Amino acid sequence: MSQPPVYYFDNNATTRVAPEVVEAMLPFLREQWGNPSSAYSFGRQVAKHLDEARAKVAALINTDPREIIFTRCGTESNNSAIHSALVTHPEKRHVFTTAVEHSANIKFCDFLQKHGHAVTFLPVESDGSLDLHLLEKSIRPDTAIVSVMSANNETGVVFPIEEIAAICRSKGALFHTDAVQAAGKLKIDVKELGVYLLSLSAHKLYAPKGIGLLYVKRRTKYHPYVIGGGQERGRRGGTENVANIVAFGRAAELAMARLDEENTRVRKLRDKLESGILREIAGASRNGAKEPRLPNTSNLAFDSVEAEGILLLLDQVGICASSGSACSTGSLDPSHVLLAMGCSAVRARGSVRFSLGIYNTEPEVDYLLKHLPPSIAKLRAQASADQPEPARPVGAHAL
Ligand SMILES: Cc1ncc(COP(=O)(O)O)c(C=O)c1O
Repeated sequence: MSQPPVYYFDNNATTRVAPEVVEAMLPFLREQWGNPSSAYSFGRQVAKHLDEARAKVAALINTDPREIIFTRCGTESNNSAIHSALVTHPEKRHVFTTAVEHSANIKFCDFLQKHGHAVTFLPVESDGSLDLHLLEKSIRPDTAIVSVMSANNETGVVFPIEEIAAICRSKGALFHTDAVQAAGKLKIDVKELGVYLLSLSAHKLYAPKGIGLLYVKRRTKYHPYVIGGGQERGRRGGTENVANIVAFGRAAELAMARLDEENTRVRKLRDKLESGILREIAGASRNGAKEPRLPNTSNLAFDSVEAEGILLLLDQVGICASSGSACSTGSLDPSHVLLAMGCSAVRARGSVRFSLGIYNTEPEVDYLLKHLPPSIAKLRAQASADQPEPARPVGAHAL
């Protein structure tokens, strides 16, 4: 069945699975479907491919394959990191994170707070950046873990992970970063960064949904979150999703090879899209710092319109974009990220995220630039037509 063309500007929500990745995983759905833990050679052969994939994802972040734990997703990786810190340091009851993390952290920390843990949600500045002095001051002797994302999924704002890791080391606190949005867009070297724990998710990297990883630096105390069989050297129970792991490995290889493209061609397209919108549409402005920012992300606010209306009109012409995180779509609440940056609820409700990827082309950006301005104009005209007439002062006469 042929599908109408899709103009996809929502790569921070998920990415198309690269054809090379599909090719790599198919044999593990069709022929090599054995259990990698089995003792016979039909299983052991599969285990060999698991090892190869582990080495490939380890190379993406410059680490040893033994420091990789495959998980089901980025959410599980984040939950696992925080859970492990609390279980392995029972005397420490405080968790430190920021107010702009993905719900994978925010909601888990809300849960912990309800169950008696102390949690700090570090506020951010109006451009989405962090005050590192405040961060340093807020780490406590009983802080079990500091978890700060590498790059924000909604605004693309990049945090100084190396500096934060150094602060945590000086304070004796364990440090985790959620690098789900940074992978494939920025170079990640866990040794240079100096982190103890790091999360990735394959579906942001042109691989399928349902596979992620947690990097755990050697000699870091670790307690499994999913408890069961001895898979992942006893650190994550559950039969491995071999096809997805192989796909992740291939995607990691491609991501390393394509990093320059993300940073030059995709960045140029994003800049063209952003400057075109800001030029053509009055009352449009960017949310968050211009730099340091992911090369693919642009979060823009439009005066006097609701993002919901914009997204509906764009959808009618095949354009996919989003307001806030895909995980909170459907909720009428304004983005917690934009609110934390001090945006009003009205501004947050009028903001749209455009996130590009390696499959976007210049004609697609031109298509968006053609359709967005009339959509905004239409919504603004509707909104002003819907405005009630201002009440006339008593005694005023119509002219
Ligand atoms: C920054 C960030 N962390 C975590 C996640 C969750 O990843 P997953 O969908 O693999 O659970 C996402 C997904 O959007 C994200 O953007």
